[in-house]
Amino acid sequence: MKVLGFLAVIGALAIIASIGAAIFFFGGFFNVAASHADPAVVDWALVKVRMASIAQRANDRPPAGVLDDPATIQAGALAYSKHGCAECHGEPGVESASFSEGLNPPPDLRKVITDRRPEDLFWVIKNGIKMSAMPGFGMDKPPVRDQEIWSIVAFLTKLRSVSDKNFKAWTDTPLGSHWVSGCNHGPAKGCGPGRE
Ligand code: HEC
Repeated sequence: MKVLGFLAVIGALAIIASIGAAIFFFGGFFNVAASHADPAVVDWALVKVRMASIAQRANDRPPAGVLDDPATIQAGALAYSKHGCAECHGEPGVESASFSEGLNPPPDLRKVITDRRPEDLFWVIKNGIKMSAMPGFGMDKPPVRDQEIWSIVAFLTKLRSVSDKNFKAWTDTPLGSHWVSGCNHGPAKGCGPGRE
């Protein structure tokens, strides 16, 4: 009988907790404002969930030699600039747009790339991250091709050592044959560095 009583208490508590959670979430008490910081435990859990999810799915290996090829790294800098990554993440010599300060959390890639695998970076850029502002560029219209995403990954893995001067030169100068994006018709079609 004692066991039954104990189970009844657990059941009652579970029902009360479910009703409480329903009122909290559906009654509008949960604050979705980006300006409202999450409790530390929620932040911690979100990062853990995200890392585990990405590690489980990020299986594409970088094509041989791509990460250290200077032309690919430069093309990656250009693709990074062209796709607007800098608006949210900043770039060498340029702070991110002021609205990115309102993203929760503001993502500074220089701080995180050292403990991410190239596979993880590739997956995130291709698929995006749910319930954050990170878009999946593989769903762009037309989608950013894998080869171009790998060039961005190559650039990101070197991000900490790319000087402001180099980044500016790589993204200001026409790279001709280094174009790896869908925009490979050359300047005749209006394509060019930093332009669509
Ligand atoms: C509209 C804003 C926005 C744009 C544009 C954007 N990102 Fe993001 N990105 C985010 C946010 C916000 C996160 C953080 C998501 C999180 O912490 O859950 C993020 C996360 C990431 C991460 C994962 C960082 C980590 O902690 O593992 C990578 C890598 C990344 N972005 C690369 C890029 C690249 C490359 C581009 C351009 C092709 C890009 N992002 C464009 C907002 C953006």
